[in-house]
Amino acid sequence: MEKIEIIKPDDWHVHFRDGEVLKAVVPETTKHFARAIVMPNLVPPILKGNDAVKYRERIQNAVPENQQFLPLMTLYLTEKTDKYDLRESYDKEQIFAAKLYPAGATTNSDSGVKDLKKIMPVLETMAEIGMPLLIHGEVTDNEIDVFDREKVFIDQKLDFICKELPELKITLEHITTKEATVYVNEGNKNLVATITPHHLALNRNAIFVGGIRPHNYCLPILKREVHRKALLKAATSNSTKFFLGTDTAPHLTGEKESACGCAGIFNSTYCLSILAQLFDNENALSQLESFISKRGAKHYNLKINKQKIILIKSSQNLIFKKYLNFNEQKIKIFEPDFLVFWKVAE
Ligand code: NCD
Ligand code: ZN
Repeated sequence: MEKIEIIKPDDWHVHFRDGEVLKAVVPETTKHFARAIVMPNLVPPILKGNDAVKYRERIQNAVPENQQFLPLMTLYLTEKTDKYDLRESYDKEQIFAAKLYPAGATTNSDSGVKDLKKIMPVLETMAEIGMPLLIHGEVTDNEIDVFDREKVFIDQKLDFICKELPELKITLEHITTKEATVYVNEGNKNLVATITPHHLALNRNAIFVGGIRPHNYCLPILKREVHRKALLKAATSNSTKFFLGTDTAPHLTGEKESACGCAGIFNSTYCLSILAQLFDNENALSQLESFISKRGAKHYNLKINKQKIILIKSSQNLIFKKYLNFNEQKIKIFEPDFLVFWKVAE
């Protein structure tokens, strides 16, 4: 039996949704993570500081009593976002960051941004006050192949923002390509990236093995093996620019197993076990704590957590629970296509 003790991690990208789903999924994150950046893509989205505060209360009410958890709230940028309003919400600590969704890029992103130029004054304000920008980095043009949308976004949009506003703290979220790892690595010091467990675990074949696999469908879509390898290399390297954002994105099974299934993978339940196994397989367990517990805090100028967690490797592989069940509904829990021997000591 092997055992490692590490600083309690943070998740720098989660979807908690709302209502009954929120109550069911929040504890899956809070049992292992001390803090999380919460995405604002509700229906309707979180557009104002006051919406974020009310949403934060609903999240806090869903945290089990014996756990401590800090949700860091975000605001959904639109072409109508008011820079004075945004600044005030940030000053009052109602929001921690702002999220840029190109309109139509992913689940619930209809009110996202069509024309970047329209939000440049808002981004300038953010650079000035040190507020982080989180980016879903995909173009949405129909003529661009879905597998190329991240790369094209980097070339056509991200590069522009980085050059215009080098002081802006930017997180390119859930990166999926080798090109993204290279761009972030070589890019300015304020540019970082998050990586999800599923993009580290799977390549695009996983969407099609033996038939269509809706539970492996997410955005940005899984890419070729060479890209997965590049992500693993970035995550397990000693670069402080790459850290965990799970993008855990619950949808009810009915919404996934459908003629037009939703994008999103719910992965919080076994996230740390899967990551420990992936890092172990790469002989890189020494970088795990940095990836999940240190680098993100450093980028966001936060203290690292005081609490610790223990990971245990046993000779018996973990048996995954298939679903998160609640109120006669269910959400499929992400399970990779390899055995996992690590678990978190409860
Ligand atoms: C996310 C969701 O379901 O909200 N889906 C996904 O595939 N990742 C949205 C997002 O982060 O793109
Ligand atoms: Zn997401």
